Amino acid sequence: MKRILVTGALGQIGSELTLLLRERYGAENVLATDIREPSGKLAESGHFEMLNCTSQAAILDMFKKFNPDTVYHLAALLSAVAEAKPQMAWDVGLNGLFKVLEAAREVNAAVFTPSSIGAFGPTTPLDNTPQDTIQRPTTMYGVTKVAGELLCDYYHKRFGLDTRGVRYPGIISYETLPGGGTTDYAVDIYYKALQDGHYTCFLKQGTSLDMMYMPDALEAAVNIMEADAGALKHRNAFNVTAMHFTPEEIAAEIRKHIPGFSMDYDVDPIRQGIADSWPNYMDDSAAREEWGWKPAYDLASMTVDMLANLRKKLNIS
Ligand code: NAD
Ligand code: SER
Repeated sequence: MKRILVTGALGQIGSELTLLLRERYGAENVLATDIREPSGKLAESGHFEMLNCTSQAAILDMFKKFNPDTVYHLAALLSAVAEAKPQMAWDVGLNGLFKVLEAAREVNAAVFTPSSIGAFGPTTPLDNTPQDTIQRPTTMYGVTKVAGELLCDYYHKRFGLDTRGVRYPGIISYETLPGGGTTDYAVDIYYKALQDGHYTCFLKQGTSLDMMYMPDALEAAVNIMEADAGALKHRNAFNVTAMHFTPEEIAAEIRKHIPGFSMDYDVDPIRQGIADSWPNYMDDSAAREEWGWKPAYDLASMTVDMLANLRKKLNIS
């Protein structure tokens, strides 16, 4: 029987992952935590507690009370917010992870920690980025992600803690808005296409980035934690991707459904600089070989699903 604690559960990923985990493992076995009050489906579907991941005492207390065997540690600041608040990004992203790992050691819980395409940098091979390669990121987000990967591997080797993670690309979803990342444009564009028929993109033409639709991101999180430990040669963290595209390619896909849709550009130098330092597309063969990673959605099928669900959500016929 799994007993799962989720940190940062109200964010873009946690708000959907928590519901999936409750469906799979039973609502009473999944505790959602965050630093803000929940509402809607997440609040109604199960137990919630306030938990700030920068407090060692609060984390340890919560872990001892709930006694999880698995922790999905999602609390972090995304790339653009982290560049604006680097000290806080380090405190939440890395000090928070250290405290969660220490508490997990006390209760012997497995820990899932998402890394990111942000764990790579400009000196990484940016095409078909290998699983094991140069990681010299130039953002605070990336610094916390590389250090976090190393820390999780250290806790596995040194203390035998079952730590696992994936390097998520940009996640696209319609339930909860993204929390301030560089790949957020690929969510915003669907909302603006339906609401205004026009989108002004903050990344420039030709910027290729890896992306993934939320249902695949959730399957990745659950499947890697369910994988046979003996089959894992890597742990923190696996490259995973489902598609890669440029702003003009996603716009062209949307135009197949909304023919009048137009896009122009007003480039944000901060987020453009971050995007330019990240892979154009990653090689995720290690995840496919070691734990059967296989995404279901590509750009075409995701676009059909995103537009259908957003039409319902925004009440647009
Ligand atoms: P998000 O910004 O949407 O949510 C993060 C949540 O953490 C928020 O609900 C926030 O309230 C909470 N939080 C912030 N500070 C906290 C603290 N001190 N203690 C406890 N909770 C705190 O992020 P997300 O998109 O859901 O991302 C979750 C994880 O996945 C992060 O590690 C992120 O880096 C990683 N990731 C996300 C993406 C993406 O595209 N969404 C891509 C790659 C990796
Ligand atoms: N979507 C995330 C970001 O842009 C990637 O880690 O920050």
